[in-house]
Amino acid sequence: MNADISHATLADLDDLVALNEEALFYGKGVRPHFERVLASPDNIALKCTVGGMFAGALVYVKGIALPGCPPELAARIGRLSEGRTVYTGDTVAVKREYRRLGLAGRLCAAMIAELRRRGAELALNEFWIYPDGSAPARKVFAAFDGGIRLGRYENFYRDLHAMGFHCPVCGEACVCAAEIYLAEIPEVGDEND
Ligand SMILES: CC(C)(COP(=O)(O)OP(=O)(O)OC[C@H]1O[C@@H](n2cnc3c(N)ncnc32)[C@H](O)[C@@H]1OP(=O)(O)O)[C@@H](O)C(=O)NCCC(=O)NCCS
Repeated sequence: MNADISHATLADLDDLVALNEEALFYGKGVRPHFERVLASPDNIALKCTVGGMFAGALVYVKGIALPGCPPELAARIGRLSEGRTVYTGDTVAVKREYRRLGLAGRLCAAMIAELRRRGAELALNEFWIYPDGSAPARKVFAAFDGGIRLGRYENFYRDLHAMGFHCPVCGEACVCAAEIYLAEIPEVGDEND
């Protein structure tokens, strides 16, 4: 598979928004969110292209940034990560026609290398759990080697619709859950490993 991984920029905004609307959230919050994320050099947005076509993306933002996070969880994350550099997983998605080809895994390996290069110490990872119980991102992030499991939170995305993010499965009344992990950045991570 002729896939390349590189940094996404504002020139990729339309592709990133379209991918997100297909695979994760849709709604009026999506475009402004990625405009903000891509505009800041602190954040890391990696894209994967296949034969020059945009196929998927993995985005981490600097800091603790979990919209919809219950206050007690936010406080716990703050205590556990105090004084350390944290990046939060924001988006992982691959276009349908390119799934199960290892692209998200490659993006993850490249992200780990980039996180290490930037001096990140911890990654805050959130795995989306759909109403049928599936959690497609769990294995994608296996390279992070778990970390501290902070728990499973029901209806985690419920409040996001008020911010203009709607669930592709549930629409505006999202009942999906999330599992949250705080992980050290592993020593592996070269995308060519
Ligand atoms: C999740 C997603 C990014 C995976 O992308 P992908 O390129 O197909 O993933 P990969 O081919 O790199 O697979 C990586 C690992 O995850 C596993 N995996 C991929 N999709 C899976 C799924 N739907 N259910 C369970 N495991 C899955 C693969 O089997 C593989 O594990 P292995 O290395 O042990 O074989 C893609 O399915 C997607 O965009 N889904 C919709 C958006 C979404 O749910 N994102 C997660 C939000 S937290």
